[in-house]
Amino acid sequence: MLNIVIFGAPGSGKGTQSERIVEKFGINHISTGDVLRAEIKKGTELGKTAKGYIDQGQLLPDELIIDILASTLDSFKESKGVIFDGFPRTIAQAEALKKMLAERGQEVSVMLDLDVPEEELMTRLIKRGQESGRADDNEETIKKRLVVYHSQTAPLIDWYKNEGKYQHIHGLGTMDAIFADIVATVEKL
Ligand code: AP5
Repeated sequence: MLNIVIFGAPGSGKGTQSERIVEKFGINHISTGDVLRAEIKKGTELGKTAKGYIDQGQLLPDELIIDILASTLDSFKESKGVIFDGFPRTIAQAEALKKMLAERGQEVSVMLDLDVPEEELMTRLIKRGQESGRADDNEETIKKRLVVYHSQTAPLIDWYKNEGKYQHIHGLGTMDAIFADIVATVEKL
């Protein structure tokens, strides 16, 4: 069972590399951001709640996200593993994930930390906002997302180091070079 947490600041390439990892290793993909954006598009109650937080660059409450994750995980039958993209984002979420996997006789195999300088993150996200119109890709909201990342999410780096699961990935360069580094890291496990 290959359970990968793909980690990094907004714009670090989690979604981009997840797609490639899914194709290469044949595992399932959970992106909490994608789930929430789909709910917003459908106009559900969850979507309305999510929009309020996403537009402000804030995290949704842990309980809400943990429930979404648990039901998505249950929907994967005979899975070879999962890539968790955008989850966990807080220590409480990491603890919940550990418990959920343990209940299924599993654990996180590795946490891949895509490390990208802040200036590059801003450049990538502004460009994506211009091209795709993603609502939270504007300068003001990106700055808020980065503050939230540093205060609430980055502490997970030490948390996963303590778990012995942390792997640093240099996230600057071509998508192919970064992917090759990820594959080499995962194949060494
Ligand atoms: P989410 O959708 O998870 O957004 P994010 O973490 O801000 O990440 P992004 O999707 O912006 O970036 P990414 O790292 O996936 O990079 P990507 O591959 O797209 O979350 C959105 C919001 O939902 C949160 O702010 C929060 O409100 C809520 N939320 C989600 N999960 C939550 C949770 N667990 N708890 C609470 N709230 C939650 O790449 C970015 C761009 O760069 C793309 O255009 C791409 O083409 C380009 N790019 C990628 N790699 C490279 C490269 N090597 N060189 C040049 N460009 C590149």
